[in-house]
Amino acid sequence: MSTSASSIKLRHLLGIEGLSPETISALLDVSETYIEQNRQIDKKQSLLRGRTIINLFFENSTRTRTSFELAGKRLGGDVINMQTSASSVKKGETLLDTAMTLNAMHPDLLVVRHPDSGAVQLLSQKVNCAVINGGDGSHEHPTQALLDALTIRRRRGKLQGLLVAICGDILHSRVARSNIHLLNTMGARVRVIGPPTLMPAEIDRLGVEVFTDMRKGLTGVDIVMMLRLQTERMHGSYVPSIPEYFRFFGLDNEKLSFAKPDALIMHPGPMNRGVEIDSEVADDIGRSVIHEQVEMGVAVRMACLEVLMSQRRNEPSGSVAEGGGE
Ligand code: CP
Repeated sequence: MSTSASSIKLRHLLGIEGLSPETISALLDVSETYIEQNRQIDKKQSLLRGRTIINLFFENSTRTRTSFELAGKRLGGDVINMQTSASSVKKGETLLDTAMTLNAMHPDLLVVRHPDSGAVQLLSQKVNCAVINGGDGSHEHPTQALLDALTIRRRRGKLQGLLVAICGDILHSRVARSNIHLLNTMGARVRVIGPPTLMPAEIDRLGVEVFTDMRKGLTGVDIVMMLRLQTERMHGSYVPSIPEYFRFFGLDNEKLSFAKPDALIMHPGPMNRGVEIDSEVADDIGRSVIHEQVEMGVAVRMACLEVLMSQRRNEPSGSVAEGGGE
């Protein structure tokens, strides 16, 4: 059965937590429809003609910002990229004043990345347009989890019943949190593996199995997701040294041999080779799907833009949005 974007009831996309399995499946189904189109010479549609999307990024990004820009343009929308380093944020303007200023220009959708957990939800309560969370602090990165799920579902034909290991800096990772919510919701089993210093105190409450030994944690898994050490969120020292971290927690072929022989290797990027992942593993064309994740990112973001914009067709202009995801 084909899924239409307008059947998915989402006003904003602020996180994966709270989304139903049906909504997640439907978002992945809509994403599927864009994959082939993105491989054609002519990639342009007019679905979002006349719509304005603003990318408002308070943190650096390569994949998320570029793929939202491509997604918006391929759907025929007008996309503005706000460089906060070159904006009035640098003159002391607050997040909310910046958002209200942009809101007064009548955008249809804001994609926001911010270093503080919860900042994007707060902003969504103050503007009239739809808001997508492009990553807030160590809280959530919903489109990353959706593109990871799409990559897995296409390779394995399902999510339910798969055993997935998420490895490394779990404490600071919004990618880990969004993936844990999504994979649990869709019936996969999740293990987290990392040093105790990089495990959140509340990790047991997230419905995962916790390992501090890579070989034990990787035993028999279908999917290995590696995470970068988020040094920009660290105050103080969490690992003794990079060589020691790589020795115990870096993914190399020896540690990978404990996973299933056909286990997929994933990484959200940006990668730090020789820190959390060995080049031989990252570049293994038989098992690494890291570039496929990036490709799926454009399709997922096109789907999210289509879904949120289809909701706005029925809204009176100027109505103030409520917070929340679904
Ligand atoms: N995975 C991810 O969010 O990458 P960027 O920081 O480059 O957007």
